[in-house]
Amino acid sequence: MCGITGIILKKGNAAPLVYESLKRLEYRGYDSAGIASIDNLKLYMKKDSGKLDEIHKKIDLTDIPGPLVIGHIRWATHGYPDKINAHPHTDCTKTIAVVHNGVIENFLELRRELEEKGHKFITRTDTEVVPHLIEEEMNATDDLYTAVLRAVRKLKGSYALAIISSSEPDKIVCARNESPLIIGVGKEGMYCSSDIPAILEYTNKFITLDNREIAILTHDGVSIRKIKDEQVVYRTSFEVDWDIEQAEKQGYPHFMLKEIHEQPDSLRDALRLQEQYLDLVTTFLDRGREIFLVAAGTSYHACLAASYMFSKLAKLTTYPVIASEFIDRYGDAVGIDSVILAVSQSGETYDTLKAVDHARMRAATIIGITNNVASTLTRVSRAYLVQQSGPEIGVAATKTFTAQLIVLAQLALRLAKIRGKISQDEIDELKEKLYRMPEIIKETIIMTEEKVKELAEKYRDKNLFLFLGRGISTATALEGRLKLLEITYKPALAFPAAESKHGPISIVEEGVPVIFIAPYDETRKDVIGNIMEMKARGAEIIALCEEGDEEIKGLADEYIEMSRDIPGLLSPIPYVVPLQLLAYYLAVYNGLDPDKPRNLAKSVTVP
Ligand code: G6P
Repeated sequence: MCGITGIILKKGNAAPLVYESLKRLEYRGYDSAGIASIDNLKLYMKKDSGKLDEIHKKIDLTDIPGPLVIGHIRWATHGYPDKINAHPHTDCTKTIAVVHNGVIENFLELRRELEEKGHKFITRTDTEVVPHLIEEEMNATDDLYTAVLRAVRKLKGSYALAIISSSEPDKIVCARNESPLIIGVGKEGMYCSSDIPAILEYTNKFITLDNREIAILTHDGVSIRKIKDEQVVYRTSFEVDWDIEQAEKQGYPHFMLKEIHEQPDSLRDALRLQEQYLDLVTTFLDRGREIFLVAAGTSYHACLAASYMFSKLAKLTTYPVIASEFIDRYGDAVGIDSVILAVSQSGETYDTLKAVDHARMRAATIIGITNNVASTLTRVSRAYLVQQSGPEIGVAATKTFTAQLIVLAQLALRLAKIRGKISQDEIDELKEKLYRMPEIIKETIIMTEEKVKELAEKYRDKNLFLFLGRGISTATALEGRLKLLEITYKPALAFPAAESKHGPISIVEEGVPVIFIAPYDETRKDVIGNIMEMKARGAEIIALCEEGDEEIKGLADEYIEMSRDIPGLLSPIPYVVPLQLLAYYLAVYNGLDPDKPRNLAKSVTVP
């Protein structure tokens, strides 16, 4: 996730405005930034790595001339967050400058083709193919809009692009597919940006750009067309009356709720990992004598779920371990044949890094999955995957958890394929469902949010909750319980449902809410037995079950219905969503701030 802004003024210098706008986009990334302008048929550019204010102190980003400026704030996905990889990116002649948010999936092929035609690439980004493609098309058309149109038709993946060229200093050309881009209509000029808050200071009148649309911004207007057939799009503007603080949360009262709702997008990004890195990591996993899945907090729950996926799909035994326990438990046993798959959103968790360090010293292979390409974890990993969720501001992890699961599921499926342990049909079916997850999550939010609010209202005063599930749903139960604990401060337990008979059941009495994670998988029959046991002790049963599962609904006091036909192994991805919402609304109804839970930190960098 990166942020972009473009401004074209009737008169004056647009750089200070773009700089202010980038400050508001910092929540989308903060590892490098840059700005480019056109003045007197000349392209100016400044960029560097680091945080925006540090860069500004060093090179004054407002000090470039011209009424036509684009800017970028980066959350690196392809290429290290250094100066050279910072946006804007240019073509060989340094005439065209491009800022981009998204992932160009076919950039390697495009880059190869362009290199064969003589284009010189200087960065490791996916974005750099865009200015070179436009340059190539400009040879044939000599018209920026047409060149951009032809270029974007060749792109696969997601993009929000703003493009300027010193050969046409009166316009910004924008294009969008699956990454957000909004157009601002102002009295002093026209604007485009990744979101409304970033340009709200300049205008409150906006036009949305939809997927597969291209727009030309001049200082006094915009024209929009469909990328496919150039059909003209007429779209009226709308006005917003948000203040800046509301606007940063895009109308949501808290970042946590915004991030829960962002999951369809973050999952789409997590599905866009580069094939060659997935293959590399899969090969390392396949070669290991034993695989340890090492993580803390929510990331540990992702590892726990993944251990079921690896076992059932690839017939591979893996050991999920809480990072702080790793050295004491397995430290002496780790060796050159061990693989450590460390999962850490921040890539900076002390315990995870310590475990990794220990294993490295013993010559184990380290693989990282993280949301932070510039983290310590990526530096110490032999190979790593970046989940591409963008910054998460709510302390309680939500969108980064489901994205971790998506990454891990992709690995498990690949491993299943190379190990030949399940049929191609099964793999294809699961893959199809995995790629539909963004839609399924969208549907889940629509189906469950109102019901969850009702339940949160009903149970707001309860002071003990139990979460139970079997098989992979144990991980869902643990994560649901962690969300609730973290932000409502209410005591809660989670167990594999059968294990509840070995202790937890003793605390159940009349009216204690017990939440059963009960997808329609092979555990369902046994889960029904566990529901009966709890019911017999007076528990208030809340079942998370498939739509139309009358048997479970009939047993439960309350139920939340989920979409049908979700394979058990992928069920934690959608099933955790109502649990995230439940924790959120319980916190809010108890007057607590879910974004800032007491005593907790987003990244724990101490032992
Ligand atoms: C802290 C955060 C959790 C997170 C855990 C592990 O406890 O509050 O949300 O799951 O650290 O963080 P990591 O960055 O390693 O995934």
